[in-house]
Amino acid sequence: MNRALETRSPFLRVLDGTPLDPPPLWMMRQAGRYLPEYRAVRAEAGDFLTLCYTPKLAAEVTLQPIRRYGFDAAIIFSDILVVPHALGVGLTFEAGEGPRLTPVTDREGVAALKDHLDRDKVDPVYEAIAMVRATLPAEVALIGFCGAPWTVATYMVAGQGTDDQAPARMLALRDEALFQSLIDRLVEASIVHLSGQVAAGADVVQIFDTWAGVLDPVSFERWCAEPLRRIVAGLKAMHPHVRVIAFPKGATLEALERLADTGIHAIGLDWAADRLAARRRLSGRVALQGNLDPLRLIVGGPALEEEVARIREDFSGARHIFNLGHGIRPETPLAHVEKLVEAVRRAR
Ligand code: CP3
Repeated sequence: MNRALETRSPFLRVLDGTPLDPPPLWMMRQAGRYLPEYRAVRAEAGDFLTLCYTPKLAAEVTLQPIRRYGFDAAIIFSDILVVPHALGVGLTFEAGEGPRLTPVTDREGVAALKDHLDRDKVDPVYEAIAMVRATLPAEVALIGFCGAPWTVATYMVAGQGTDDQAPARMLALRDEALFQSLIDRLVEASIVHLSGQVAAGADVVQIFDTWAGVLDPVSFERWCAEPLRRIVAGLKAMHPHVRVIAFPKGATLEALERLADTGIHAIGLDWAADRLAARRRLSGRVALQGNLDPLRLIVGGPALEEEVARIREDFSGARHIFNLGHGIRPETPLAHVEKLVEAVRRAR
């Protein structure tokens, strides 16, 4: 860990315990299709996975939002589905349709997963991280990431995105032992992949659990909280100083409280979360990240500016990292992102 960075980076200072006003700012999916310079590199790469697996291009699009908006953190450009791909699962991205994977639905499917991560798939990620770290301003933190085992499993079982993740939920109900073996493989793979990213220069890792909100409390404990605990313990055993952010989208406050003791440093809140209740119940233990509705960033005007002021007010004096409640959408006007940056950094 770089000590100079630790003291100069507002993002790391908040994760390490100090509330700041204005709060540090970054946006989930900040490198993406709303940026014309991203669309240009994406067109040059041809397809999405080529972009992910070409270090020079992945590093370039990671840096684009930092250059344009001066965010306090960069997130490495990659995808959560790189992990199943590196375990040998077939993966393609069809234009306009999202990901397509070879479904893993039975014992043979789980047994066929590689016992290591394919270097062709993960080394480019680590190389891109090293390239970004070498050019990133010292005060800007670098975030590595993976999908949470539950969320990655939902795509592996269905072979694509679905509305309610019924295929994975049904498999978990029909054959708990089989589903547990899939989760166990993903826990191990996540520890290895996050560890590789930290070794390459990531200061922080975020674990995206986009589908945490579809589980009942007992299933949440088993498929989300327990795997997270194991990942954090495994990662910290190798990298004691790494900071971890969990983003369990749609989880109830009771569920979030179960995560606060997993050894993580921050919890990302989605836009529907009750900020003051979350602050009361969680902010003694973790920093809170979030939670502007990405639709407000599309609409702009008072819908955007009043909510930014409310978010800052609700978290004032607490450890807060300003972010969206989910990823920025491609149709977001650039001028509204500029307004957001200005409003978050304005003196109160
Ligand atoms: O945040 C960043 O800027 C870093 C890069 C990043 C991407 N995906 C790039 C991407 C990150 C952190 C992700 C995470 C991810 N990927 C999640 C979890 C977070 C979330 O948003 O819920 C999930 C569920 C995925 C899986 C995935 N990747 C889907 C379902 C899709 C298709 C839907 C879509 O948005 O197009 C992707 C593709 C994807 N991943 C794109 C980007 C920029 C768009 C592809 C393109 O440019 O053609």
